[in-house]
Amino acid sequence: MSRRKFIKNTVLGSIATSGFGITVKNPKNKELAVPRIISTWKHGVEANKISWQKLKNGEGGLTAVEYGVRDSENNPDERSVGYGGLPDREGKVTLDACIMNSNNDCGSVSFLENIKNPISVARLVMEKTPHVMISGKGAYDFAIKNGFKRENLLTEQSKKDWEDWLKKSEHKPVINIENHDTISMLLIDSDRNLFGACTTSGAAWKMHGRVGDSPIIGAGLFLDNDVGAAAATGLGEAVIRTAGSAMVVECMRNGMSPLDACKEVVHRISKLHRNRPEWEYLQVGFIALSKSGDYAGYSLKKGFNFALTDDQNDSILIDAKYRI
Ligand code: GLY
Repeated sequence: MSRRKFIKNTVLGSIATSGFGITVKNPKNKELAVPRIISTWKHGVEANKISWQKLKNGEGGLTAVEYGVRDSENNPDERSVGYGGLPDREGKVTLDACIMNSNNDCGSVSFLENIKNPISVARLVMEKTPHVMISGKGAYDFAIKNGFKRENLLTEQSKKDWEDWLKKSEHKPVINIENHDTISMLLIDSDRNLFGACTTSGAAWKMHGRVGDSPIIGAGLFLDNDVGAAAATGLGEAVIRTAGSAMVVECMRNGMSPLDACKEVVHRISKLHRNRPEWEYLQVGFIALSKSGDYAGYSLKKGFNFALTDDQNDSILIDAKYRI
């Protein structure tokens, strides 16, 4: 039997009906490759390597995804994440991030300024507070109280780009900015527990105070440890309108493969946005990872790619399939 057929059969074999429809049971299938990590865009290649190493060192899935995406947050050449990210219309770099573990514990920060690693602040929100999300000055104060340093995140290059943008002040996001955007990462460990992280500086030239999908559990990231995990990239408003990542997971719960689940939600986004003004520049992409270890990436338009790391693949970049 081919590997593909084998995977399909074992996933289908693991589906059982419950009172609320179809539930994918934990297949505990040793033949499928786990651990496995997938993450959005080219910056995921390096991020995955770091996460993989953390896993190998026994540091656990949560630390692995946190430190993986921190690599993009710290890199000034990544213009859509963390330090060096393109600013809002007022020239301010504001960051959104969230993190989630296999127990559905989650933490999130939004509209956070002057802190380089929002993903680590999100983790602290999850571990040290009774809340899920804190925002703006509250998130900044919380970070400072917990030992984070105030830093200027606007690099000379980002400042220059903003000054150039000011000349026309046109709010028209460019799809697939420099071939990357938000970094979202999903990980399944060798016990088949799922973890996820998502972090971004958001859409360039957004209104001051705008928050995208990335810090919103269910939009930018969602996982259900019985079913699978999903995460998003692209124009956050479209992902929020459709509860994108939660819906991808729900589709997997109802028996779809990761690829079909991503396709279904991209289809919904396409239908909803076809007659909206942002259609011209709209791009969204999802990655999904099922409990069985199956994975996929899929986007509305051409140009999205994602990184895969597992025992057979030492961090490779895969061009995602796309709708149009
Ligand atoms: N997906 C990133 C954002 O729209 O902010």
